[in-house]
Amino acid sequence: MAEVRMRVNGTARSLDLDPRVSLLDALREHLGLTGTKKGCDQGACGACTVLADGERVNSCLALAVQYSGREITTIEGISAGDRPHPLQTAFVGHDGFQCGYCTSGQICSAIGMLAEHRAGAPSAVTGHLAATGVPLSDAEIRERMSGNLCRCGAYNGIVGAIQEVAATEAAR
Ligand code: FES
Ligand code: FES
Repeated sequence: MAEVRMRVNGTARSLDLDPRVSLLDALREHLGLTGTKKGCDQGACGACTVLADGERVNSCLALAVQYSGREITTIEGISAGDRPHPLQTAFVGHDGFQCGYCTSGQICSAIGMLAEHRAGAPSAVTGHLAATGVPLSDAEIRERMSGNLCRCGAYNGIVGAIQEVAATEAAR
């Protein structure tokens, strides 16, 4: 067994885990944080996306021991008390989900993606890799969110929700 210490949604947690346990199973099965979903369990769908020190990661592909000492944020940790995260509100407003199974991963991924965009990271559809201030077009959002699949096909609402939050952030 291996001792894994991490901060999860702002709280220090300590677990004794088989080193083969994934970060996803540590969150769901050992910490009871079932908001993070297991879709494919092989890195193909994005349903398991969480944030590690603010960067998005597919938690099904990560071993929990790799993340010892890190700050993990799941869907349960993104609201400010009773106040939903702006992306949660926008997903509701734009009908960005149907069954909701992919939604926690979509929202965590969008938080990480917006931070990457703010930091100037290009995507595969960015015209010039060194370009700065690239507008977050629908094509940019779709490419940057392409690791998060939605079997219900709620993509138009997902893109609309992210556009709304990105525009609000840009106006600040
Ligand atoms: S459950 Fe992790 S990518 Fe599908
Ligand atoms: S809302 Fe059902 S899979 Fe996306």
